[in-house]
Amino acid sequence: MKSDPQIITRLNEYLCFETTGHVQYLFHAALCEHDGFSALARIQADYSAEESQHSARIMARILMLDGLPAPKMMHAVGGLRNVPEQFESDRELVGAAIVHLRTSIGECEQRRDFVTRDLLREMLDDEERHLYWLDKQVSLLGDVGIENYLQAML
Ligand SMILES: [Fe+2]
Ligand SMILES: [Fe+2]
Repeated sequence: MKSDPQIITRLNEYLCFETTGHVQYLFHAALCEHDGFSALARIQADYSAEESQHSARIMARILMLDGLPAPKMMHAVGGLRNVPEQFESDRELVGAAIVHLRTSIGECEQRRDFVTRDLLREMLDDEERHLYWLDKQVSLLGDVGIENYLQAML
């Protein structure tokens, strides 16, 4: 099924957020597990798995529209050993993904590609929840202090 090339471009751009998120949260899960924060590691691993599912759905949609998926990493992942820095970098990525999604959803609407629009709206719902969770963790960290927060994440 042929599609507007702009839609394929937007989907491929968005795919990069998902592949980067998948690897970034997987890495943060490994760091948390290594440091003994197993509860937090499980949550990060679940987010990584969610982004993997999102990537698969975006790739399937691109293929269905006769495009070629081109997953890439947006930036190198690594180096952030402490949990507050990990949350900050996750927040940046999810925030940028949300901005991209909102623009793309509008473009799908204008081009009357309602199926891609609905797919991206589902992703937006998940990413808004993800950002809400991250914001909550950062404010909890501030309220109870890093030691108490991490104590609850063992
Ligand atoms: Fe996602
Ligand atoms: Fe996410």
